[in-house]
Amino acid sequence: MTKSLITGGAGFVGSHLADRLLAQGDDVAVIDNFSSGSRENLDSNVRLYENDIRDPQIEAIFAKEKPDFVFHLAAQIDVRRSVENPTEDADINLLGTFNILDCAVRNGVKKVIFASTGGAIYGDTDIFPTKEGTYEQPLSPYGIHKLAAEKSLYFYKKVKGLDYTVLRMSNIYGPRQSTKGEAGVIAIFIDKMLKGEQPFINGDGKQTRDYVFVEDVTRAFILAKSTTGSDKFNIGTGVETSVNETFEKIVDNIGFDLPKMYKDAKPGEQKRSCLDASRAKSELGWKPECDIDRGIRETVQWFKDKK
Ligand SMILES: NC(=O)c1ccc[n+]([C@@H]2O[C@H](COP(=O)([O-])OP(=O)(O)OC[C@H]3O[C@@H](n4cnc5c(N)ncnc54)[C@H](O)[C@@H]3O)[C@@H](O)[C@H]2O)c1
Repeated sequence: MTKSLITGGAGFVGSHLADRLLAQGDDVAVIDNFSSGSRENLDSNVRLYENDIRDPQIEAIFAKEKPDFVFHLAAQIDVRRSVENPTEDADINLLGTFNILDCAVRNGVKKVIFASTGGAIYGDTDIFPTKEGTYEQPLSPYGIHKLAAEKSLYFYKKVKGLDYTVLRMSNIYGPRQSTKGEAGVIAIFIDKMLKGEQPFINGDGKQTRDYVFVEDVTRAFILAKSTTGSDKFNIGTGVETSVNETFEKIVDNIGFDLPKMYKDAKPGEQKRSCLDASRAKSELGWKPECDIDRGIRETVQWFKDKK
């Protein structure tokens, strides 16, 4: 039986990944400090360690679990918070990653699969859809530290022999996404509309994002587990959807007649984001299967059922 360890496994993406690994017969352990994750997300068959990835006790968890694969998803994910507090972001997203990688090397882990970001790493680019070879110009400490973590994986591979795959994901959405913070505009809009509240659009709403459904993302993690060689892959749909269009799709789905209302643009917000995932298609055999209309339908249904 394959042993998988997920950091951040009580979060939005990590908990879906845990379900998928359990469904294919893996033994699954999770490390999470519940800073944004939730116990409700966790299947009872997961072994839970309530720890911070920066804790020295992580070593003992690795020694006990001896995982074959580590999926490293635990992170501070709020871009604006990283701008306000770059050292906190570096502490969690970079130093925390070093702690995980050191433990992985010392405990014979076969491979680390790292949750990176397509949007924030490419940052200030004007090449769309963006390919992996595009020069990275992150505009936030979050993007800088994710890129530095990727470079660290390269170093651990070359110098310490630890295999890895990096998934540079676009904007993920779907059931269980938190409505707090800033990451999930789809979750925030659905939640507000179902509560009868007016969601506000930041700026003119013409900014675009590449929305990828969580089910497609977890399939990419599973494929990354069995691929050989160490590389990085964009995981996105290549389709740009503006915030205005996203708002309209959700309104149509919920069946409300709600006007769009706008607030000031957030300073430094990226105008466009869209990933070219052709490398993932040719080398991992991955392509997105869920279009945004079905994805929004399923997400709305989940929020309705949760109420
Ligand atoms: N959601 C997106 O659109 C998106 C896009 C690209 C990349 N990512 C990356 O995917 C990963 C998962 O994102 P998500 O949307 O599921 O976020 P999330 O906040 O739902 O999940 C992160 C999990 O990590 C845990 N965590 C945070 N800091 C920790 C720490 N110091 N020690 C232990 N656990 C800690 C949280 O409690 C949470 O359960 C993150 O690495 C994120 O950067 C997300």
